[in-house]
Amino acid sequence: MTEERRKQRDRRTQPRRKGERRVTAGSKLDLILDVTRRLMSITDLDALLRDMATVTTQLLDADRATIFIVDRERAEVWSKVALGTGAGEIRQPIGVGIAGTVAATGETINIADAYEDPRFNPEPDHRTGYRTKTLLTFPMTGQNGRVIGVFQVVNKNGGGEFTTDDEETLSSLGASAAVAVENAQLIAEQRRLWTTLIETLAVTIDARDQQTAGHSQRVTRYAEVIGRALGLQGIELEKIRAAALLHDYGKIAVRDQFLLKPGKLDQAEFEYMKVHAEKTGEFLAHLVFPQDMRDVPVIAAQHHERMDGKGYPRGLPAERILLGARIVAAADVFDALTAPRYYKPAYTLEKTLEIMDGMAGDHLDASVVAAVRRNVHDLEWTLDSMKHTWPKPGDEGMTAAPESGLSERDQAANS
Ligand SMILES: [Fe+2]
Ligand SMILES: [Fe+2]
Repeated sequence: MTEERRKQRDRRTQPRRKGERRVTAGSKLDLILDVTRRLMSITDLDALLRDMATVTTQLLDADRATIFIVDRERAEVWSKVALGTGAGEIRQPIGVGIAGTVAATGETINIADAYEDPRFNPEPDHRTGYRTKTLLTFPMTGQNGRVIGVFQVVNKNGGGEFTTDDEETLSSLGASAAVAVENAQLIAEQRRLWTTLIETLAVTIDARDQQTAGHSQRVTRYAEVIGRALGLQGIELEKIRAAALLHDYGKIAVRDQFLLKPGKLDQAEFEYMKVHAEKTGEFLAHLVFPQDMRDVPVIAAQHHERMDGKGYPRGLPAERILLGARIVAAADVFDALTAPRYYKPAYTLEKTLEIMDGMAGDHLDASVVAAVRRNVHDLEWTLDSMKHTWPKPGDEGMTAAPESGLSERDQAANS
C-alpha cells in the first residue's frame, strides 16, 4: 500500500469528531469495499476487527462499537474489541444480555432505549459512568449457519435511532467479518493440532528410555533460549523449536538392546546408534511442513554434525551445517551434561560450560557456545524449571556404577 493510500485509509477510518460531515451513500459503499479488501490481506485478527469496529462507528454514525466473539466451550460471548468503552473485557453467557441473546437467536436486535429493555445489562455503564441509549446488535454468522460473533454499535450520534439502512450496512460488514474470524480460528486450530502433534511425537521418543526422560522438551527450551540470544525470532525460532522437539525422532528405529544398554557400547553398537540421526531426517521428510518450515527435517538430522567435519551421519563441513542445527547440537550437549545419566551425576553449570568451551570450534560452533555462556542465567533458570523432568535415581537404568565424562552412547545418541 502506498503512503498516500495509507493516509487516505487512515483518514477514512479515524472516528469522526462531532460536527464532521456525515458519510454519504457513495463513500459508504467505498468504505465497505475497502474494509472487505483489507479483510483478505490482514492476518492479524485483532488489528482487523479493531479496524472494522472503527469503520462501523463511522458508517453508522455511532458513538461506540463492540465486537464480541462466541466461545462455545465456555458458552459465553466476550468482547474481543471494544472501542471507546474503557470497561475492560465483557463476558456474558450465551442467551443473557443483548449480545448474548443475539448469539443465541441469530437475530438482529435494534432498540431505541436500552434501559427500557429487560435484557440489557447496565453493569458496564455503572462501572464507567457511560450512558447507553440506542443499541444495534447484529450476528456474525459462519459458514455452517452458527453465530460465531456479534457486532454491536452504541448510541447513534445526534440522538436518533438506528435505521433499517444501518441494519443493512451492519449486515454486509458482519458477513465479511465472519469470514475473517472463521479463517483465523481455523488457522489457530491447525496450529494447535500441529504443536500438540509434534510434542506428542517427542514424548513418545523420550518415553522409550527412562534416563533420557524429558530430554526433547528440555533441548527445545534450551535451543529457544540460545536462538533468541543469537537474535533469532518469529519463524526462525519456530523452526528451531520443531527441529529440537523432533531431533531424536530417529531413535524410534533403534532397537531396545542398544538404546537401553547401560555402560559402554562397542564400536559396532556405536555405529548402529549413529543411524538415529539419519533416520530422523528420513522420517521427518514424510511430513509435509509448511513452506517456510521446509528445512526442519534437515536441521533435525544435522544435530550430530561437527564443525570439523567429523560428525555424523554425513560428516558435513561446517559451511553446510545450518545455524539451527548448530543451536540444537549445543542445546543437546547442554542437556546431556546438566541432566543425570546412569553413568554420571548431573554436572554443575560451571563444569558444563568448561566442557562445552573445550568442544567449541571443533565440535560445536564457537559463536553458539559463546551465546550459551552469555546467557547462562537464562539457561539456568530454564534448567531449574525443567528439573522435574529429570530421571529419578530409582528409575530403570539409573542405578549403574558412576563413570565420568560423556559415554560413547551419549555421544552417539544423546549428546
Ligand atoms: Fe541424537
Ligand atoms: Fe538428543
